[in-house]
Amino acid sequence: MTSLLGSSFCQAMMMMTMKRERSAAILGLVFVCLTAVLPGSRGADVDVQAELQELRDMIRTLTKLTMVQQEFIEERIRSDGQSGIKQLRHDTEGTRTYYGSTHIDYSTAAIHDHSDYVRAVGMGETIAVMNGVEFRTRHNDYRLVRASTTSNDFLATEDLDFPPVPPEVTDKDSVQEQIAELREWFLAFHNQNDSHRNYHDYFRPVLCYMEGMWINDTDSEMTEPFPSDRHFLDASSWEDLMTKVRYMAYTGLKDNLENLAFLPRKIMSVSDDGHPHIAQWLYRILCHPIQGDLPTRYLRQREDWSYSYPRGRNQKSVLASRGARFQISEFEEDKFTDFSLLDELMQGIPGVDNTPSASLARGYAGDLYPGNSSGQEHTLQEGFYHRWYKFARKGAMGSAFAHVGFSDEPLFMAVTSQERVVPLAAESCNNNGRQCVSHSTRVTYAMPLEVIYLTPLLSWNPYNISYNETAGTSRQDSRDGSTDSLAFLGSDSETYYRTPVDFFSGGSVEADVADTVRATVKVLDSQNVVRDVTASGTRVILPAIEGQEIRLRYPVPPIHMEGSSVWKEVNVIKDYLTENGGDDDGDGD
Ligand SMILES: *[C@@H]1O[C@H](CO)[C@@H](O)[C@H](O)[C@H]1NC(C)=O
Ligand SMILES: *[C@@H]1O[C@H](CO)[C@@H](O)[C@H](O)[C@H]1NC(C)=O
Ligand SMILES: *[C@@H]1O[C@H](CO)[C@@H](O)[C@H](O)[C@H]1NC(C)=O
Ligand SMILES: *[C@@H]1O[C@H](CO)[C@@H](O)[C@H](O)[C@H]1NC(C)=O
Ligand SMILES: *[C@@H]1O[C@H](CO)[C@@H](O)[C@H](O)[C@H]1NC(C)=O
Repeated sequence: MTSLLGSSFCQAMMMMTMKRERSAAILGLVFVCLTAVLPGSRGADVDVQAELQELRDMIRTLTKLTMVQQEFIEERIRSDGQSGIKQLRHDTEGTRTYYGSTHIDYSTAAIHDHSDYVRAVGMGETIAVMNGVEFRTRHNDYRLVRASTTSNDFLATEDLDFPPVPPEVTDKDSVQEQIAELREWFLAFHNQNDSHRNYHDYFRPVLCYMEGMWINDTDSEMTEPFPSDRHFLDASSWEDLMTKVRYMAYTGLKDNLENLAFLPRKIMSVSDDGHPHIAQWLYRILCHPIQGDLPTRYLRQREDWSYSYPRGRNQKSVLASRGARFQISEFEEDKFTDFSLLDELMQGIPGVDNTPSASLARGYAGDLYPGNSSGQEHTLQEGFYHRWYKFARKGAMGSAFAHVGFSDEPLFMAVTSQERVVPLAAESCNNNGRQCVSHSTRVTYAMPLEVIYLTPLLSWNPYNISYNETAGTSRQDSRDGSTDSLAFLGSDSETYYRTPVDFFSGGSVEADVADTVRATVKVLDSQNVVRDVTASGTRVILPAIEGQEIRLRYPVPPIHMEGSSVWKEVNVIKDYLTENGGDDDGDGD
């Protein structure tokens, strides 16, 4: 009787322990429990050993099967489409399905303005896929930061440099003259006319990208993947995050502050004794400066008829809206391509080694060469994000050319040596399988999200308004900038109003409910004079300057389903209709 009670207690304990995936502890318990319920003879000890071994084998087999099933799900998602944004939160709908949110709701990828913050770039929640891993982000609102150039610490970042103000502007005596001159620089950028003003050094493009990776989940502490001034993962541990997200999914509730994310966990590998290594998915958004110029004509507008049609907009009117989506392409004509400008831009972006060494490589298939190389002088820098590459010799299909992944156009990968990124090992053999070498490799993934042009507005300060990095310093004594007596005390990282209101001739363009910016506020300058100013941070589209609305953010996210054969066929139909005199822009006319 006692031993029966004991065994059901043991069963319960084992169930609980198994949930925590501690197979070593399980085995310990199994041993104690089996010893407790079995008579203590020597012969029985042998039985216990055999039974233990059988249980151990069973657990290992089941754990491996679980791992393989996860792999099957990833493999299935990989072939459903490509890496990209899949879906935004449902917040528009109508009488036809296409009134509902897709990868666009009010804006592509839910981008919006927080231009009252010095570095915040507004972007809401999205469901994304990277290399078959489907996940849901928190409200992103990422910061204008880049991978660190001085530190190799895991996930270390540093502020992006802001472009300076042209001396032709700051040399002017009065603020009115500065306004007039700076407007000409903006118009020169807008019209891409460098004989009007040579704007290239002052309008600096950055390529913002989403990066994903499986990290070693050894600690229960959460790693906040990337900085935001407004959002964070609202959980005390990865397990807590998963519990909250599952609660929301089960009950249908929304985390109203949008600070939760569905970030999968999986069994990365199983050791010989059946011990599972758990990996945690992590993503982040960073930006990288583009060397040299990126002409705005290389940002080709895409057609999203599910956005334009129900809103009765043509391509031109979509371009003036936040629903526009772009593609980085140096080609004016549609044609087959391989290594292109996007590859070149991404190849400048380091993986999570930040300053990867040239010797960082997968090793498995020998030396690899850049996708644009004709010879073999330089091997591929595998620590930087790459997509097309070349083998030293032609492969089974008679080509030395290869692309990362099996069928995933916008996916880029970089090799890393960061210990927190989980490795996977496999043996490569030559000499008819007689010489085998094990290669253990860690990689991270990336896909492009946005091109943002940084402008002199980020540093222009004609009223000499003081700046304090500490948020809230300009709002002390309940100042809200609404009247002269409540004027902000200078500016800070979250109250970044320094641009004279007169600089723009219009109000804010296409405001979104998520925007935090106010059109005009009052700020005390360093001489204690009250100034009427507007926000100086990054905007999707600037308010009109001499009637021109200038776009600064060009969302270029790939769309997950666009990688499917079905969507490719749909794109053909759209192009066919456009070229054959049908509705060329989806506005329904
Ligand atoms: C470019 O600017 C120059 C100088 O202001 C002007 O003469 C020229 O017409 C402009 N070019 C175009 C294409 O607008
Ligand atoms: C996880 O990282 C720790 C050190 O941080 C290391 O000891 C352990 O081997 C790693 N596990 C895996 C599966 O890489
Ligand atoms: C290939 O692209 C890289 C930039 O990623 C560039 O530095 C290099 O010159 C290019 N090589 C050739 C042969 O075009
Ligand atoms: C700007 O303000 C600082 C104090 O914040 C002062 O030292 C400096 O002289 C001022 N510059 C001009 C051009 O007024
Ligand atoms: C910024 O604000 C903090 C907090 O009020 C204050 O301690 C610090 O002296 C300020 N820094 C400058 C440069 O004014």
